[in-house]
Amino acid sequence: MAGREYYLMHKNVRVCLMEIDDEGRIARIRINQAEKEHIPLGGQMNSTKFHEWWRDRAIPRTRHGAGTALQKLGYPSTGSALVNNLALSLSDCYWIMPRGADLSWEEVNLFTNDFVDAFGEITINQDYRVDLRKETRFDCAASQGELQKKWCIAADGRRYMIKGNYGQSYQQSLNEVFASNLHRQQGFPNYAEYTLADVRIDGDQEGLGCLCYDFCSTGAECISAWELLQTVKIKKNESYFYPLKEVCLSMGMKESAFSSFMDYQIMTDFLITNTDRHMNNVAVMRDPDTLELKGFAPIYDSGNSMFYNISYEGLKHLNIREIKTHSFIEREIRLLQYVQDRKAVDLDKAVMDFSIYKQDVFERRIREPELQRLYELKMNLLQSFQSGKDVWKSDYIRRHT
Ligand SMILES: Nc1ncnc2c1ncn2[C@@H]1O[C@H](COP(=O)(O)OP(=O)(O)O)[C@@H](O)[C@H]1O
Ligand SMILES: [Mg+2]
Repeated sequence: MAGREYYLMHKNVRVCLMEIDDEGRIARIRINQAEKEHIPLGGQMNSTKFHEWWRDRAIPRTRHGAGTALQKLGYPSTGSALVNNLALSLSDCYWIMPRGADLSWEEVNLFTNDFVDAFGEITINQDYRVDLRKETRFDCAASQGELQKKWCIAADGRRYMIKGNYGQSYQQSLNEVFASNLHRQQGFPNYAEYTLADVRIDGDQEGLGCLCYDFCSTGAECISAWELLQTVKIKKNESYFYPLKEVCLSMGMKESAFSSFMDYQIMTDFLITNTDRHMNNVAVMRDPDTLELKGFAPIYDSGNSMFYNISYEGLKHLNIREIKTHSFIEREIRLLQYVQDRKAVDLDKAVMDFSIYKQDVFERRIREPELQRLYELKMNLLQSFQSGKDVWKSDYIRRHT
């Protein structure tokens, strides 16, 4: 399978030369030793990791609507779509340049050049008609995640991402806005602000999604915690918390910056019962020119929260001390053990307006009082925690159940 030769580029830096076949598979990677600090962090340790980094860059095949979008755009696979779009993304500054082509970052990047995200459009609106006289070179940007999403350009030139929902509900989008409201009330500066957006789903039907502006640019790229973790050895079954801390500190983050962000994120995720703070939903920002770490990326992707996947009946019998998460450890309540400053969240400013959930699809509006009741139980639990109780300990749980 001899492929074509491409440079992996980091802005205008040639990081390595590699072969890529029609399906987007890479081979014969030759690193430019003079620029090896620019190798993506996720692929620095060895060649297996490098292959994984590349594979993870394509839009997941499992993304809702991906199959239809590939077919309509005439791509055999998400890998081939990636290559055809020069592997460009709106979250970092990596891309690929065919050997012999004379292209610059300034000419190709999606932060400043116009594009139409046709792939994203089709995953959100399956009836979208593709204009084959494509106006631009790009029709999809590399991005991760399972939910349908597309990138757009606002009238003022800012890039924003629209996200859809799973199934017959708008709750994930409503949750993103709910989380933004909580962070705003707290006065926390580092979160991505989500707002509701009308989307067309299944043909003519109107639906609700959400949007947020790009927090990256040609001067600031984001790197997921998952990628950072690929640079260190991790023991089997070890929590990722301390390895992640080690990597962040080794890249120059202050210990206090790590802790204050984590304290805040863990406790607010606890309040909204975000069960999906996995390592691709936490990221850091880096200067792509100096490679300097700038701190954590704004808090994003908080939609899988507020019991979104629990039935109405299930809500009534839920034990809030037994919630499972996909974060550092499985039991949500035990995540609180990582918190150093229990006062990093101000509970007086955590009283929320639940009327937003009245905008969910008709059948789900009855959930609102239950969501409020469960949120208040979480508030009480966090209050006990803040007053010094180790709420995850079994004797505490015995006395309060
Ligand atoms: N506002 C944004 N600016 C830049 N990159 C973003 C932004 N929002 C998300 N991303 C990137 O896109 C990926 C997928 O978005 P996410 O909101 O996590 O979707 P999903 O719910 O499908 O996981 C994230 O992991 C992150 O790398
Ligand atoms: Mg995500």
